[in-house]
Amino acid sequence: MSENVQTLLKETRKFQPPLAESVGFEKWHVESLDEYKKLHERSIQHPDTFWAEEAQRLSWFKHWDHVLDWNPPDAKWFVGGKLNACYNCVDRHVQSGHGDECALVWEGEPVNPRTNHPAPGSAYAHEPEIRRVTYRELEEQTSRIGNALKELGVQKGDVVTVYMPMVPELAIALLACARIGAAHSVIFGGFAPHAISERAIDANSKVIITADGGFRRGEIVPLQKNVEEAVKQLAEKDHHINHVLVLKRTGHEHPKFEGGTVPASLKAADPKAKTKFHWWHEIAERVSSACPCESMDSEDMLFLLYTSGSTGKPKGIVHTTGGYLTFVNTSARLTFNLVPDTSQLFWCSADIGWITGHSYVLYGLLSNRIPSLLYEGAPNFPDNGRFWDIISRHKVTQFYTAPTAIRTFMKWGTEWPDKYNMSSLSVLGSVGEPINPEAWIWYHETIGKKRCPIVDTYWQTETGGHVVTPLPGATPTKPGSCTLPMVGIDAAIVNEAGEELGANKGGLFVIRKPWPGMLRGVYGNRERFISNYWGRIKDPKTGTPFYFSADGARRDEDGYFWVQGRVDDVIKVSGHLLGTMEVESALVSHAAVAEAAVVGVPHEIKGSGIVAFVTLKSAWAKANPGRQPDDKLRAELTSHVAKEVGALAKPDQIRFAESLPKTRSGKIMRRLLRDVAAGVEKITQDTTTLEDFSVVAKLRADEE
Ligand code: WT7
Repeated sequence: MSENVQTLLKETRKFQPPLAESVGFEKWHVESLDEYKKLHERSIQHPDTFWAEEAQRLSWFKHWDHVLDWNPPDAKWFVGGKLNACYNCVDRHVQSGHGDECALVWEGEPVNPRTNHPAPGSAYAHEPEIRRVTYRELEEQTSRIGNALKELGVQKGDVVTVYMPMVPELAIALLACARIGAAHSVIFGGFAPHAISERAIDANSKVIITADGGFRRGEIVPLQKNVEEAVKQLAEKDHHINHVLVLKRTGHEHPKFEGGTVPASLKAADPKAKTKFHWWHEIAERVSSACPCESMDSEDMLFLLYTSGSTGKPKGIVHTTGGYLTFVNTSARLTFNLVPDTSQLFWCSADIGWITGHSYVLYGLLSNRIPSLLYEGAPNFPDNGRFWDIISRHKVTQFYTAPTAIRTFMKWGTEWPDKYNMSSLSVLGSVGEPINPEAWIWYHETIGKKRCPIVDTYWQTETGGHVVTPLPGATPTKPGSCTLPMVGIDAAIVNEAGEELGANKGGLFVIRKPWPGMLRGVYGNRERFISNYWGRIKDPKTGTPFYFSADGARRDEDGYFWVQGRVDDVIKVSGHLLGTMEVESALVSHAAVAEAAVVGVPHEIKGSGIVAFVTLKSAWAKANPGRQPDDKLRAELTSHVAKEVGALAKPDQIRFAESLPKTRSGKIMRRLLRDVAAGVEKITQDTTTLEDFSVVAKLRADEE
């Protein structure tokens, strides 16, 4: 197992769900454990009728012919049905008389005079920029950007790459794609140019939407510059981006271009460069504001989202329209007790660049007609109280964040949240990695004031939405456990033979039946789809493949799930999935590095930290007399990784070795390296000694 959950505290309390009134709700959608159990039972026994009822909450242009086609591992949901995701999130609310209600509440990061909103009485000298976007405005904006994309040659079925900051236009860009039937492929703004180019090429995407920058911790993230770099990298591989649509967010000077032309900086690098850059606002003003929502087949691709795997190349996870939208609509409503009126304001602090943002900032929320809050920046800008300040000023009712953030808040101290009145909160969510009981209790007591139920939601990019989670009014919670399966999810802990294990036996997490939000494929790679998810574990009786999540877990005597962590070569760093091989590939692309092996180690805040063992090329040493394995080289390698992959992949430690320990068949002994890495607290400052694995390697050569 690649990760250890930090359980310093023995926490055995069980927390009963509170009464709805005590958190300001009229009622819970599911009010007792018994009711949940009956509902779950029905959803598994009669999936067709259960999911048909759920799908009816959406608006369909054409009703489906039947609910499910299941040819393992291929599922088709709501077969023959036609709908549009943007229509379901936007237009239908306008048509039913809710056009002037708020769909998005956005807060920018800067709190300085540039926004010109002096705010006496606010915690900050100047109030941040705040925008409230109604459904009617969304309808107009998604129509304009839909038309803009069409003008740039985007057709139904094309993939549009999106690399933007957390601004309303990011949501608009995604919904605009959905509106015209193009699939979006969002790349998190923290990734490096290489991540953009490798994903755009994999998806054969010819249009990129970006911004001139975004604000993060007071600095400008150079998004447009990164896109230019990616465009150059792509042209070298003969993949030409036709158009880049640029939102003016920061208004900073670099790099300039005339709307509709090839930027000078690109031409300078390659006179034949033909990628045209356009200003978002210029096109949006020019085009028509009428753009009908394309009628999409239920199984048409809604989006691609790349996620890390155990090989170097990220996988493009395919989600389709009808099933995904139904699943996120249902799971969002039940897990967070969403009630479509204007009294709730939901805030998920994840970036839209991750699946959490797709499902629970955007599609699950707006399809339920619940306003969703977006915040552009960092939790510690201008000070450590920013999140709590946002919750109290906007009166957030449901808050959803990651354990790594909670641990950071704990470290900053209760004096920050204690300054704010957060009595508007009702439900608190956690996502991304196992939450350690200390963090759970802190969240419950300090943020939730012991009133708010905590929903620890276990799921993945591939599952589309929650697959194991408490329902806030029904499920008693145990800190550290994600509790019980979502409705419609037939989850189990099994051994390699697919046999279900008894209470408290560690095993593999599988889902035995299809569900509407499941991935439909890995883009352009059928083989990976099968081998990664369906090839390993089968129903011992029928031979039908089970979906395997690559997590190890156990169920306790109450049937509660406890996720132990990944069993493959990916690690969770601050809740972000990262393939060890991605970091290794980045390291070996540096001139000094011969071989690299990357492992995860328990980290107090990040969950897992990254330790890289590196051997050097003798040719490099020869060519660079005086250079040696030292802190200077460590720093160089660290920034090289940041440049190649993104800042989140920076190793916490780089350890130089003479050679890497390998088995006789030449496999790197990762388990040994993990033990070595976990055993030492600090980076060795001794710059001359290299690790010598020869003895241990010989001792353990036969173990792996
Ligand atoms: C992996 C999926 C879920 C959306 C964001 C991450 C881990 C996620 C939990 C949780 C224990 C969790 C698993 C999973 N994970 N949530 N509540 N408890 N582990 O999506 O990047 O696809 O990562 O995150 O290891 O496999 P992702």
